[in-house]
Amino acid sequence: MITRIINAKEGLDDAVSLIKNGELVVFPTETVYGLGANAYDAAAVKKIFEAKGRPQDNPLIVHISRVEEVREIARDIPEVFYTLAERFMPGALTVVLPRSERIPDIVTAGGDTVAVRMPDNAFARELIARSFPLAAPSANRSKHVSPTSAKHVYDDLKGKVPLILDGGECGVGIESTVLDLTSGSPVILRPGAVTAEMLAPYLGVAPGSGKVIGTAKSPGMKYEHYAPTAEAYAALSAESAAAFYDRCAAEGRRPVLLFRDIHADVLGERERISLGVSVEDFMHSVYSALRTAEKDHDVIVVETLTGEGRAASVMNRVMKAVGGKTV
Ligand code: TXA
Ligand code: MG
Repeated sequence: MITRIINAKEGLDDAVSLIKNGELVVFPTETVYGLGANAYDAAAVKKIFEAKGRPQDNPLIVHISRVEEVREIARDIPEVFYTLAERFMPGALTVVLPRSERIPDIVTAGGDTVAVRMPDNAFARELIARSFPLAAPSANRSKHVSPTSAKHVYDDLKGKVPLILDGGECGVGIESTVLDLTSGSPVILRPGAVTAEMLAPYLGVAPGSGKVIGTAKSPGMKYEHYAPTAEAYAALSAESAAAFYDRCAAEGRRPVLLFRDIHADVLGERERISLGVSVEDFMHSVYSALRTAEKDHDVIVVETLTGEGRAASVMNRVMKAVGGKTV
């Protein structure tokens, strides 16, 4: 199969007809790129799992373009969903709700809940409006880092999808927050740019964290996600990263440091990929930096952010990428 990359605006009509014909289309969102198929078409959705090499017990998010569309794919929708939607949709928030009968088993991995999200990207919303409902995971090969550019997707899925809509770099840079509203009290199954602190006033309570396991509520979390192909570590400090870098270099290995510019003085002349200045810069650029780094380096060392909120969300991904290893 030939994979075409087309500017999102120009490719939209083609994308809509591919989806209607049971094919896959990659589209940009503000978080990461998505690999979409008609959520009502089980055979089309099966192609998503095949193209990614994704285990079938990991359910997909169903994407909407208008809040009202939720009624077709979910049922018993609590009032708080609409409160959250008013504030956070479109945006980097996915909400888990009881599933409507219309959604095939393959989308929800047989479960009776469905994850719903409205992306904050005009091309994505137009595509969804014209091909609703759109089931889509991140458009990476399973277990690899999520893609934040059309080129990243091409590197992973070339020959496996007919069309990639190119909408430039994703602004947010990590996947959406997943909030479960089906288990009594709200639980964050995956942290993201929309934080517990931001959600709490609308929920009336501080949401719990999915790490308090006891249920198999966050199926995706049991898989090792987001890992680069090179050996990777989180740095306990810029100093420890510099020392580790020097040891690796002395052994003839090719290390690289992924750090924000505030550490430039400590890191000196050592090879570094900049993660910008702010926490948001770090979030925006870390996946792209991991993909650049793995291409021509053996060892990747990533800055550790301390603190709550978005810093903690980014570190959730970094710790997965490095498999918990620190230096
Ligand atoms: O930002 C995003 O969310 C991107 C863009 C494309 O929208 N999508 C994305 O999809 O990251 P994916 O499939 O890579 O991650 C979805 C996560 C997985 O961890 C999955 O297990 C979880 O959401 N999930 C999906 N449906 C669920 C459900 N019904 N209950 C609990 N978790 C669910
Ligand atoms: Mg994913």
